[in-house]
Amino acid sequence: MSASRPFLDRRYGAWLAREAPPPDEELTRVGPGTPCGEYLRRFWQPVAFARDLRDLPVRIRIMGEDLVIFRDRSGRVGLLQLHCAHRGTSLEYGLIGERGIRCCYHGWLFDVDGRILETPGEPASSTLKDRLCQGAYPTHEFGGLVFAYMGPPDRVPVFPLYDTFDLPGHTLLPAAKFALPCNWLQIKDNSMDPVHTSFLHAISSGYQFTEAFGALGELDWEETPYGMMYIATRRVGDLVWVRVADFMAPNVHQFTREIEEAKEEKAASRPAVIRWAVPIDDTRTWNMELAQVDPAWGLTPEQVASPGFGQSDDRPYAERQRHPADYDAQSSQREIAVHALEHLASTDRGVLMLRKIVRDGIRAVAAGSDPPFLLRAPSPAIATHCQDTVIRIAPETDPEADRRLLRETGRKVVHGG
Ligand code: FES
Ligand SMILES: [Fe+2]
Repeated sequence: MSASRPFLDRRYGAWLAREAPPPDEELTRVGPGTPCGEYLRRFWQPVAFARDLRDLPVRIRIMGEDLVIFRDRSGRVGLLQLHCAHRGTSLEYGLIGERGIRCCYHGWLFDVDGRILETPGEPASSTLKDRLCQGAYPTHEFGGLVFAYMGPPDRVPVFPLYDTFDLPGHTLLPAAKFALPCNWLQIKDNSMDPVHTSFLHAISSGYQFTEAFGALGELDWEETPYGMMYIATRRVGDLVWVRVADFMAPNVHQFTREIEEAKEEKAASRPAVIRWAVPIDDTRTWNMELAQVDPAWGLTPEQVASPGFGQSDDRPYAERQRHPADYDAQSSQREIAVHALEHLASTDRGVLMLRKIVRDGIRAVAAGSDPPFLLRAPSPAIATHCQDTVIRIAPETDPEADRRLLRETGRKVVHGG
């Protein structure tokens, strides 16, 4: 943690506040050997979409490491270090075979686990291929995403299953992949910052979702067995809308679709977008998503796979200035947001909690332990909370309605909110 700049209390005082302290290195650096990088590597991370693995290898960069990912002709996925163990040619130019990938330069053939199967230019008596390996990481396909474990080989965790991976009446589909030119942590900060949904997505920039988002709510945050959640409770006319979103450590969050109008009562509805923020490096991040889709919505795979409004820089600059959205707010906090320059306020409690979860995990790994929330043994699906619930409550105090809300959602209504 770096020291904060002194609290500026002078008008026209910019001259006194020009120093820019460095970012919090512990929380934000993700390259090999960095505290946060090693923490994130202890968890399965999505690195590619299965739909992108076709006849050609794909060069990717994850947490500062250059890698190649491919599916060989027998259907297995390989994730190898990019540069060939022989003399460094990039395997993005490799030839995918029945088994593994063959470097274009001198024909060395690598299996998906990094074993060298052939060194065709070497004498038949050579044992080099039996002694040497190309660097490889294990992979796991789920829901149309390819996950990788990039931590120490003897510490591979169990792949976590959340209850939202299986929702009645919905189909889990691979969804959007989009990059932001900033550090991963400020993207995840945003996930536990529900007040921005009232301002950025409604009051300040015009309604980007529904008008109901413009109601300022009561905000709560709670720790959960998988990380934390926020609970935003809004009064919309004589209805009360409770929106819950989850943060699953270390870098996942899930939220309901931003379509709630809060115009009628609704039992907890849970269709979710589940989104990982995977660092490309310190200053660029992939968002990769799975989505729960009701077939009745009639969405095409392309629609499911496109980022929502304002999630990328696909709009003209002036338009983004007039109606800024998530991409603009998050990536303009600097390439790496400088926590020492912030003035956190009451609505930032969730951000503080999230950063503490991350810091505790980083320090556990640095101390030689497993980080909290890492799964070591297979478990039933992890019960999460993400949902929208809407309940009718009379504008005046209604003790029975209050009791009902408390019973059904665990939330108290603040009247007059
Ligand atoms: S550089 Fe790859 S086989 Fe020689
Ligand atoms: Fe947002």
